[in-house]
Amino acid sequence: MKNKKIFIACDTKSTKRVKKIIKETQTNKIEVGYKFGLEFFNSKNGRKFISKLKNKVIFIDLKLHDIPNTMKSTVSALKDLSVDYLTVHISSGLKALKEVKKISGKIKIVGVTTLTSLDSKNLKEIGYSKSVKDLVIQQSKLARKANLDGLVVSPHEVEFVKKIFKKEIITPGIRLNSNINDQKRVMTPKQAFKNGSDWIVAGRTITKGNVKNNLKKLINNVS
Ligand code: C5P
Repeated sequence: MKNKKIFIACDTKSTKRVKKIIKETQTNKIEVGYKFGLEFFNSKNGRKFISKLKNKVIFIDLKLHDIPNTMKSTVSALKDLSVDYLTVHISSGLKALKEVKKISGKIKIVGVTTLTSLDSKNLKEIGYSKSVKDLVIQQSKLARKANLDGLVVSPHEVEFVKKIFKKEIITPGIRLNSNINDQKRVMTPKQAFKNGSDWIVAGRTITKGNVKNNLKKLINNVS
Protein backbone atom coordinates (compact mmCIF):
# COMPACT_ATOMS: atom_id res chain seq x y z
CA MET A 1 0.00 0.00 0.00
CA LYS A 2 2.92 2.34 0.65
CA ASN A 3 3.52 2.79 -3.06
CA LYS A 4 -0.11 3.85 -3.52
CA LYS A 5 -0.57 7.55 -3.06
CA ILE A 6 -3.63 9.74 -3.17
CA PHE A 7 -4.13 13.46 -3.54
CA ILE A 8 -7.39 14.61 -2.06
CA ALA A 9 -8.81 17.48 -4.10
CA CYS A 10 -9.95 20.14 -1.63
CA ASP A 11 -12.37 21.87 -3.98
CA THR A 12 -14.12 24.38 -1.72
CA LYS A 13 -13.90 28.03 -0.69
CA SER A 14 -14.02 27.20 2.99
CA THR A 15 -10.89 26.86 5.12
CA LYS A 16 -13.08 25.28 7.81
CA ARG A 17 -14.09 22.56 5.36
CA VAL A 18 -10.46 21.97 4.36
CA LYS A 19 -9.42 21.65 8.01
CA LYS A 20 -12.15 19.03 8.46
CA ILE A 21 -11.08 17.13 5.32
CA ILE A 22 -7.46 17.07 6.52
CA LYS A 23 -8.45 15.95 10.03
CA GLU A 24 -10.64 13.14 8.73
CA THR A 25 -8.11 11.79 6.24
CA GLN A 26 -5.21 11.09 8.58
CA THR A 27 -4.25 7.47 7.97
CA ASN A 28 -1.17 5.29 7.87
CA LYS A 29 -2.75 2.90 5.35
CA ILE A 30 -1.98 5.01 2.29
CA GLU A 31 0.09 8.14 1.63
CA VAL A 32 -2.18 11.18 1.45
CA GLY A 33 -1.40 14.59 -0.07
CA TYR A 34 -3.71 17.59 -0.51
CA LYS A 35 -4.54 19.26 -3.79
CA PHE A 36 -5.75 22.85 -3.91
CA GLY A 37 -7.19 24.14 -7.15
CA LEU A 38 -8.23 27.53 -8.47
CA GLU A 39 -11.35 27.70 -6.30
CA PHE A 40 -9.58 27.38 -2.96
CA PHE A 41 -6.42 29.22 -3.98
CA ASN A 42 -8.46 32.23 -5.14
CA SER A 43 -10.83 32.23 -2.16
CA LYS A 44 -10.43 34.97 0.46
CA ASN A 45 -8.22 33.01 2.86
CA GLY A 46 -7.06 30.17 0.60
CA ARG A 47 -3.50 31.20 -0.22
CA LYS A 48 -2.76 32.24 3.36
CA PHE A 49 -4.09 28.91 4.64
CA ILE A 50 -1.83 27.00 2.23
CA SER A 51 1.16 29.10 3.29
CA LYS A 52 0.70 27.92 6.88
CA LEU A 53 0.22 24.20 6.25
CA LYS A 54 3.01 22.12 7.73
CA ASN A 55 4.21 18.56 7.16
CA LYS A 56 1.83 17.81 4.31
CA VAL A 57 2.44 16.97 0.68
CA ILE A 58 0.89 19.95 -1.07
CA PHE A 59 -0.16 20.17 -4.70
CA ILE A 60 -1.34 23.50 -6.08
CA ASP A 61 -3.34 22.74 -9.19
CA LEU A 62 -3.31 26.17 -10.79
CA LYS A 63 -3.06 24.84 -14.37
CA LEU A 64 -1.04 27.80 -15.60
CA HIS A 65 -1.55 28.53 -19.29
CA ASP A 66 -0.01 31.76 -20.57
CA ILE A 67 2.91 33.27 -22.45
CA PRO A 68 6.42 32.26 -21.28
CA ASN A 69 7.19 35.50 -19.44
CA THR A 70 3.92 35.49 -17.49
CA MET A 71 4.31 31.79 -16.64
CA LYS A 72 7.82 32.42 -15.35
CA SER A 73 6.88 35.43 -13.24
CA THR A 74 3.85 33.61 -11.84
CA VAL A 75 6.00 30.71 -10.66
CA SER A 76 8.44 33.15 -9.13
CA ALA A 77 5.52 34.87 -7.32
CA LEU A 78 4.55 31.51 -5.80
CA LYS A 79 7.94 30.73 -4.37
CA ASP A 80 7.21 31.99 -0.87
CA LEU A 81 4.88 28.97 -0.54
CA SER A 82 6.34 25.71 0.54
CA VAL A 83 4.46 23.54 -1.96
CA ASP A 84 5.57 20.31 -3.59
CA TYR A 85 3.69 20.20 -6.91
CA LEU A 86 2.34 22.80 -9.35
CA THR A 87 0.47 22.21 -12.61
CA VAL A 88 1.01 23.95 -15.94
CA HIS A 89 -0.82 23.23 -19.19
CA ILE A 90 1.45 21.53 -21.71
CA SER A 91 -0.39 23.42 -24.43
CA SER A 92 1.37 26.57 -23.14
CA GLY A 93 4.19 25.43 -25.42
CA LEU A 94 7.76 24.17 -25.09
CA LYS A 95 9.34 27.57 -24.43
CA ALA A 96 6.98 28.36 -21.55
CA LEU A 97 7.55 24.91 -20.03
CA LYS A 98 11.32 25.26 -20.23
CA GLU A 99 11.26 28.77 -18.73
CA VAL A 100 9.18 27.55 -15.81
CA LYS A 101 11.50 24.60 -15.17
CA LYS A 102 14.50 26.94 -15.09
CA ILE A 103 13.21 28.82 -12.04
CA SER A 104 10.93 26.35 -10.26
CA GLY A 105 13.54 25.20 -7.71
CA LYS A 106 12.10 22.59 -5.34
CA ILE A 107 8.56 22.80 -6.73
CA LYS A 108 7.82 19.85 -9.00
CA ILE A 109 6.33 21.05 -12.26
CA VAL A 110 3.54 18.80 -13.47
CA GLY A 111 2.25 19.06 -17.03
CA VAL A 112 -1.48 18.79 -17.67
CA THR A 113 -2.13 16.82 -20.85
CA THR A 114 -5.79 16.77 -21.92
CA LEU A 115 -8.46 17.42 -19.29
CA THR A 116 -10.29 14.30 -18.12
CA SER A 117 -13.57 16.11 -18.77
CA LEU A 118 -12.93 16.08 -22.53
CA ASP A 119 -13.48 13.27 -25.03
CA SER A 120 -12.55 13.13 -28.72
CA LYS A 121 -15.83 14.82 -29.76
CA ASN A 122 -15.15 17.75 -27.39
CA LEU A 123 -11.61 18.05 -28.77
CA LYS A 124 -13.00 18.41 -32.32
CA GLU A 125 -15.30 21.19 -31.05
CA ILE A 126 -12.28 23.22 -29.91
CA GLY A 127 -10.37 22.60 -33.12
CA TYR A 128 -8.08 19.66 -32.37
CA SER A 129 -8.09 17.03 -35.11
CA LYS A 130 -6.15 14.34 -33.22
CA SER A 131 -7.83 11.70 -31.07
CA VAL A 132 -7.39 11.97 -27.28
CA LYS A 133 -4.79 9.19 -27.41
CA ASP A 134 -2.64 10.77 -30.14
CA LEU A 135 -2.86 14.19 -28.53
CA VAL A 136 -1.81 12.84 -25.12
CA ILE A 137 1.13 10.98 -26.73
CA GLN A 138 2.31 14.20 -28.37
CA GLN A 139 1.89 16.16 -25.13
CA SER A 140 3.84 13.52 -23.17
CA LYS A 141 6.74 13.78 -25.61
CA LEU A 142 6.78 17.55 -25.17
CA ALA A 143 6.76 17.16 -21.37
CA ARG A 144 9.76 14.82 -21.66
CA LYS A 145 11.56 17.34 -23.85
CA ALA A 146 10.93 20.12 -21.32
CA ASN A 147 12.15 17.82 -18.52
CA LEU A 148 8.97 18.25 -16.47
CA ASP A 149 8.74 16.39 -13.15
CA GLY A 150 5.31 14.85 -13.56
CA LEU A 151 2.29 14.48 -15.79
CA VAL A 152 -1.45 14.61 -15.20
CA VAL A 153 -3.20 12.06 -17.41
CA SER A 154 -6.50 10.21 -17.22
CA PRO A 155 -6.32 6.59 -16.01
CA HIS A 156 -7.12 5.48 -19.58
CA GLU A 157 -3.86 6.90 -20.88
CA VAL A 158 -1.42 5.88 -18.14
CA GLU A 159 -0.24 2.65 -19.76
CA PHE A 160 1.00 4.16 -23.00
CA VAL A 161 2.17 7.45 -21.42
CA LYS A 162 4.45 5.49 -19.05
CA LYS A 163 6.38 4.20 -22.05
CA ILE A 164 7.18 7.78 -23.08
CA PHE A 165 7.40 9.67 -19.80
CA LYS A 166 9.35 8.00 -17.00
CA LYS A 167 8.66 10.33 -14.06
CA GLU A 168 5.60 10.70 -11.80
CA ILE A 169 2.13 10.11 -13.22
CA ILE A 170 -0.87 11.66 -11.48
CA THR A 171 -4.38 10.63 -12.48
CA PRO A 172 -7.67 12.38 -11.77
CA GLY A 173 -10.96 10.97 -13.07
CA ILE A 174 -11.26 8.48 -10.21
CA ARG A 175 -14.65 7.00 -9.33
CA LEU A 176 -15.83 4.19 -7.07
CA ASN A 177 -19.23 4.05 -8.76
CA SER A 178 -21.03 5.12 -11.92
CA ASN A 179 -21.68 8.69 -10.71
CA ILE A 180 -19.16 10.35 -13.00
CA ASN A 181 -20.48 13.96 -12.78
CA ASP A 182 -18.63 16.15 -15.30
CA GLN A 183 -15.79 13.70 -15.91
CA LYS A 184 -15.59 11.57 -19.07
CA ARG A 185 -12.50 9.37 -18.87
CA VAL A 186 -12.83 7.72 -15.45
CA MET A 187 -11.73 4.50 -13.67
CA THR A 188 -11.71 3.00 -10.19
CA PRO A 189 -8.68 3.63 -7.92
CA LYS A 190 -7.70 -0.04 -8.20
CA GLN A 191 -7.66 0.06 -12.02
CA ALA A 192 -5.74 3.34 -12.05
CA PHE A 193 -2.95 1.95 -9.83
CA LYS A 194 -2.94 -1.28 -11.84
CA ASN A 195 -2.35 0.76 -14.98
CA GLY A 196 0.66 2.36 -13.31
CA SER A 197 -0.45 5.65 -11.73
CA ASP A 198 1.88 6.88 -8.99
CA TRP A 199 -0.74 9.21 -7.52
CA ILE A 200 -4.49 9.21 -7.96
CA VAL A 201 -6.53 12.37 -7.42
CA ALA A 202 -9.87 11.94 -5.72
CA GLY A 203 -12.17 14.88 -5.10
CA ARG A 204 -15.89 14.31 -4.75
CA THR A 205 -15.36 10.55 -4.26
CA ILE A 206 -13.84 11.45 -0.88
CA THR A 207 -15.19 14.87 0.02
CA LYS A 208 -18.90 14.42 -0.77
CA GLY A 209 -20.71 12.85 2.18
CA ASN A 210 -18.86 11.09 4.99
CA VAL A 211 -15.16 11.75 4.38
CA LYS A 212 -13.84 9.09 6.78
CA ASN A 213 -16.09 6.37 5.36
CA ASN A 214 -15.35 7.38 1.79
CA LEU A 215 -11.60 7.12 2.40
CA LYS A 216 -12.12 3.72 4.01
CA LYS A 217 -14.04 2.55 0.91
CA LEU A 218 -11.26 3.81 -1.36
CA ILE A 219 -8.58 2.07 0.70
CA ASN A 220 -10.62 -1.16 0.56
CA ASN A 221 -10.87 -0.83 -3.19
CA VAL A 222 -7.10 -0.72 -3.61
CA SER A 223 -6.17 -3.26 -0.88
O1 C5P B 1 -14.23 15.55 -7.87
P1 C5P B 1 -13.25 14.94 -8.84
O2 C5P B 1 -12.58 13.69 -8.31
O3 C5P B 1 -13.82 14.79 -10.23
O4 C5P B 1 -12.10 16.03 -8.92
C1 C5P B 1 -11.00 15.88 -9.74
C2 C5P B 1 -10.00 16.97 -9.45
O5 C5P B 1 -8.90 16.82 -10.33
C3 C5P B 1 -10.54 18.38 -9.63
O6 C5P B 1 -9.91 19.19 -8.63
C4 C5P B 1 -10.06 18.78 -11.00
O7 C5P B 1 -9.82 20.16 -11.11
C5 C5P B 1 -8.74 18.00 -11.12
N1 C5P B 1 -8.30 17.66 -12.48
C6 C5P B 1 -9.05 16.93 -13.39
N2 C5P B 1 -8.58 16.70 -14.66
C7 C5P B 1 -7.37 17.11 -15.02
C8 C5P B 1 -6.58 17.81 -14.10
C9 C5P B 1 -7.07 18.05 -12.83
O8 C5P B 1 -10.16 16.51 -13.05
N3 C5P B 1 -6.90 16.83 -16.22
